[in-house]
Amino acid sequence: MNRKQPEWLDNAVFYEIYPQSFNDTNSDGIGDFQGIIEKLDYIKELGCNAIWINPCFDSPFGDAGYDVSDYYRAAPRYGTNEDLKRLFDEAHSRGMHVLLDLVPGHTSVEHKWFRESMKAEKNEYTDRYVWTDSIWEEPQGMGCIRGISDRDGSCAVNFFSHQPALNYGFYKPDRPWQQSMDDEGPKATLEELKNIMRFWLKMGCDGFRVDMAGSLVKHDDESKGTIKLWQNVREFLDREFPEAAMVSEWGEPDKSIQGGFHMDFLLHFGPSHYNDLFRCEEPYFSSRGKGSALEFVKKYIENYEKSDRKGLICIPSGNHDMYRLARSLSGDELKVAFAFLLSMPGAPFIYYGDEIGMRYVENLTSVEGGYGRTGSRSPMQWDKGVNAGFSTAPAEKLYIPLDSSDDRPDAESQIADEKSLRSEIKRLIAVRMRNEALQSCGEIEFISDGYPLVYKRKSDAQTITVIINPSAEKCTVEGVKGKIIYTVGGSAEIKDGSCFADGTTAVYIEE
Ligand code: GLC
Repeated sequence: MNRKQPEWLDNAVFYEIYPQSFNDTNSDGIGDFQGIIEKLDYIKELGCNAIWINPCFDSPFGDAGYDVSDYYRAAPRYGTNEDLKRLFDEAHSRGMHVLLDLVPGHTSVEHKWFRESMKAEKNEYTDRYVWTDSIWEEPQGMGCIRGISDRDGSCAVNFFSHQPALNYGFYKPDRPWQQSMDDEGPKATLEELKNIMRFWLKMGCDGFRVDMAGSLVKHDDESKGTIKLWQNVREFLDREFPEAAMVSEWGEPDKSIQGGFHMDFLLHFGPSHYNDLFRCEEPYFSSRGKGSALEFVKKYIENYEKSDRKGLICIPSGNHDMYRLARSLSGDELKVAFAFLLSMPGAPFIYYGDEIGMRYVENLTSVEGGYGRTGSRSPMQWDKGVNAGFSTAPAEKLYIPLDSSDDRPDAESQIADEKSLRSEIKRLIAVRMRNEALQSCGEIEFISDGYPLVYKRKSDAQTITVIINPSAEKCTVEGVKGKIIYTVGGSAEIKDGSCFADGTTAVYIEE
């Protein structure tokens, strides 16, 4: 299964854009495509060469757009399909690539397919969703919507109760209403999914981040059905769009790779121990030095070895679903965390605003199904001007209130300050770009998993030892060969085969 991936992925550094909160150019208080276009140079200047945009299709926005009501139409709040196409073109002209967010598992209840499927009379969409054949029977192990139309049945939901599950079949159907993957309804759903992908790929998008990619086939404990389904999609892509990049939100790289994905996210939920590093009471990256990376490393190695492609696991700095990194780390801790994130295999994903240490805005009322996630989705802080340069709308019209603190970080000030987090991240990305061993497909071997964390990255021609020492205590690493090519935080030196590094410092050493 050693699939070749689109070449640009080998050295991709992604920037995730939550479009609502990025840049508003028509003063309605919400971001738009033109706003993204105008900031492509900002993203490129940081060193990122690819973007992932959260869902930007027609939607009632009950889950920030993860509840699609028309997969073929850009949400008017952001612009038109032509504007989105222009965004692809503008990105390409800068040598950048764009991933859209594909939500294959569910739609909004307002989607025309769902409206049709609610009808008692049989029609083209009767089997588009997972329905039981009696209102009194609930689909086992899933939430459901029922009693909302004349159709005698309950419809399974995939996430929130307004997100009915699309029907890709059951792995082993055991009730009369459960369809198999080979039944007509599930087959039609899959074909429609390919049509959607074809539509956007033809328009110029470079691939997809796939939402809840492991959730499609039901009662599929070992994911064999869902893997088979994605293999079918893979054949279609190989035939028609071999250059399309596929990144899954799955969190089980051995499965996603079998399904033909190029990369898979390390998730902040489930067994990854990602939160041990960044978001728990004593995160590993805190300078208190009381955390542990042990379980994370164990799980990482297990997944790394199970999947035979080296650059498969992507570790994000954060995303629209979790607390901001700057909620638990600050100052040099953040810089050291980025020295780790930007020297790991797989493509790094920087969540908008994390590059300037944007904070989680506490105590906000939920916006568009954000709940506790809302505070991580506040408007980007561009400068010290009105509304932090995000929008010229009146402050009360902003999609989500801004971080109101006087010392909130902003991009403009950080660009001007070479000691800022953003300047550090820019240098770290440049170091990654110059050194093949640090890129997506370089191998990794862990040498130590305590304080410090030590690992070697290797390409055919290069070996780089990375020492990550978040703790405020100095450290000594013995048996080190080579010369220091980059240091973050404090200082470090190599003497008589040992590296001595300050506390809260990261060091890259080339052999
Ligand atoms: C994914 C998205 C999240 C969304 C959910 C349902 O986890 O990242 O924001 O709410 O799927 O689509």
